[in-house]
Amino acid sequence: MRVIEAISDLKAIVRTQKSMGRTIGFVPTMGYLHEGHLSLVNMSLQNNDYTIMSIFVNPTQFGPNEDFERYPRDMERDLRLAESAGVDVIFAPSVKEMYPDGYKTYVGVEGITEVLCGKARPGHFKGVTTVVTKLFNIIEPHRAYFGQKDAQQAAVIKKMVRDLNMNVEIITCPIVREEDGLAMSSRNVYLSPEDRKSAVVLSKSLMESEELIKKGETNGGKIRKYIIDRIQTEKNAVIDYVELVNADTLESVDEIKGRVLIALAVKFGSTRLIDNIIVEV
Ligand code: PAJ
Repeated sequence: MRVIEAISDLKAIVRTQKSMGRTIGFVPTMGYLHEGHLSLVNMSLQNNDYTIMSIFVNPTQFGPNEDFERYPRDMERDLRLAESAGVDVIFAPSVKEMYPDGYKTYVGVEGITEVLCGKARPGHFKGVTTVVTKLFNIIEPHRAYFGQKDAQQAAVIKKMVRDLNMNVEIITCPIVREEDGLAMSSRNVYLSPEDRKSAVVLSKSLMESEELIKKGETNGGKIRKYIIDRIQTEKNAVIDYVELVNADTLESVDEIKGRVLIALAVKFGSTRLIDNIIVEV
């Protein structure tokens, strides 16, 4: 496995691989890798000849009061995990390499970035779409892999690719969970032991609401209330949002019909966790 820091070096590798007719799969990450990230690598390995992973904690997607500085980092461990998973190249640029002095260009998607996490984190998705566009332009992958864990991010990227005619296929992969159901996240390490226990309520409330829907409940308001009440049984949980939206457009829905995304964000102390499920009726 090669570890590349310079954009020009990565472009040269991509050129060589493409000249040999190889297809390129790309897995963008911010590192502190876990099974969720590695599931994306697995998908890429199955469908492409060559897999590139980026590890870059992207400053433009963090708000001024967010956790950019303290975001967990462990490059040595990440490189070991990526290599044993079968990644061909790690792209780990510096902030200066991606955003040199005088950097001024941003990519923004309107509408679907203004709901759910976009409300609580203004500017976040602009940072994501900007860095992902830059990475797509550097690598020009055939396919790029995103996790359903960040459902809104995946929807925003798909919209951007469609709207800007980008030549890349976006593949969304299922959420990988801990044994007790908690969605894996680099940020789970922030949780105190007590909050870690309470956090199980997020996936539990989603699974239970799925059961209610399977039994015939179609009233979105009732499901939303069920989830809110369930989460509030944990005293240390502070709800940011619980929403039922159309899985593709992220527009709010009242009646559960078609593909509905049930998404939530909840704070435990200063740690904000997100989770979601898609139900199809
Ligand atoms: P990061 O949070 O490191 O996540 C990288 C990718 O892994 C994302 O597509 C995310 O949805 C996926 N992922 C995270 N946890 C997962 C889980 N439990 N199961 C399945 N997939 C999971 O998302 C980002 O980084 C950044 O915003 C990025 C796209 C790299 C742009 O900076």
